[in-house]
Amino acid sequence: MQTHPTSNKIQKRADYTFKYNSQFGRHGWLRLTPAYSVKLVRELIKEDCCTRSRIVDPFSGTATTGLVAAEMGFDATLFDINPFLIWLGNTKCYHFSAAKLSSLKDDFFNCIKHIVISDNCWVPPIHNIERWWHPETLIILASIRKSLVDTFGEPNGNSYHNLIWVAFSRLIIETSSAAFNHVSMSFKEQSTQYELGHIKNVFEQIFLHIISTAQNELHGDVEILKVDSRDLSYARTNPYDTVITSPPYPNRISYIRELRPYMYWIKFLHNGSDAGLLDWEAIGGTWGTATTKLKNWNPVNTNLPERLYAVCNNIQLSGDKYSDIMSLYVHKYFDDMHSHLQKITTILKPKAKLNYIVGNSSFYGHFVDTESIIADSMKSIGYNNITIKTIRKRNTNKGLFEFNVKAQWQ
Ligand SMILES: C[S@@+](CC[C@H](N)C(=O)[O-])C[C@H]1O[C@@H](n2cnc3c(N)ncnc32)[C@H](O)[C@@H]1O
Repeated sequence: MQTHPTSNKIQKRADYTFKYNSQFGRHGWLRLTPAYSVKLVRELIKEDCCTRSRIVDPFSGTATTGLVAAEMGFDATLFDINPFLIWLGNTKCYHFSAAKLSSLKDDFFNCIKHIVISDNCWVPPIHNIERWWHPETLIILASIRKSLVDTFGEPNGNSYHNLIWVAFSRLIIETSSAAFNHVSMSFKEQSTQYELGHIKNVFEQIFLHIISTAQNELHGDVEILKVDSRDLSYARTNPYDTVITSPPYPNRISYIRELRPYMYWIKFLHNGSDAGLLDWEAIGGTWGTATTKLKNWNPVNTNLPERLYAVCNNIQLSGDKYSDIMSLYVHKYFDDMHSHLQKITTILKPKAKLNYIVGNSSFYGHFVDTESIIADSMKSIGYNNITIKTIRKRNTNKGLFEFNVKAQWQ
């Protein structure tokens, strides 16, 4: 096994991870591992933005960049391809009025008071749902959902009602047997049966926390749009000064996998094949049909960095039964990122500053140096002042780090 040359002195830095965000108002509404740190984004905005800078994040995720930007008085545009994350992000970045929040609170408590428990309510078509929730807990959650729908309608464009659905999303995860103590999610041995009184109490606490933090004023405007970052062809009349983003990493972690429970309950996903298709659209996607489709994939770019071809070759030659497909996976990831880095130039101002927070990975002992390959792609496209800064150690596995690849557009 090769060791990575990055210094042993680099720390894990919990303050540079999503764990740090939970204490910061709206950032803590839903804990999702793809999020990066509020603190890091604040530092980058201070470093690279001036009074009227327009910020863009082409991989919005949970909208950390947009929310920090708005808190600091900047306008931002964010892109993502995942409809649930776009919905969540737009709700997180909305300007709420205190009076309307107060009337929402009354409506919520009124609705919760009159929940009728029935084992006939709609439950999401999640595979092996009993691994997630105890059957009795599931009946209660489904009954709560029905009462919410009867009062507020299904989740839609109403940002106030969406606060209730964000609270419900958090409720389903807090009453589930999912455990988030690893980078990716796992299940506890046994699901817990909760009483209605307990579930209602948890729901009320979550909701009160969400509406109290929704009152925190935002000083900038944010929009999150459904756009594929490899195809930013609809050129903006008003280009951007600063890119702050963390794209997916080439590590085969699927966002859809972690987001599944929310996406099914909120009706952004209807079946397993939708999940596979969405993951195939995502850069670095690896879930279900995404892996099968990869076998028939052909590169879009023929001029990718030499060090990419070298590492793909090493992975392919490693002799594992999956080494061909893993080599293709890595190749496609950087092909997609190259297309993105080319396309984003069409919406940047001259001298725009870019920050890509990326992680390296390792396949069969071969390090995929994401930071250097992205930097090489940037160089070949024509970016200037490219630097790589190591931000933190990612986990106890030696050699996995997070980096900021900084650059300037011409
Ligand atoms: C690492 S996450 C971003 C996390 C974000 N910084 C946060 O704090 O929540 C990467 C995001 O890129 C999105 N994504 C993947 N492929 C994409 C594409 N082709 N176009 C736009 N977004 C994409 C994923 O849906 C995911 O939300």
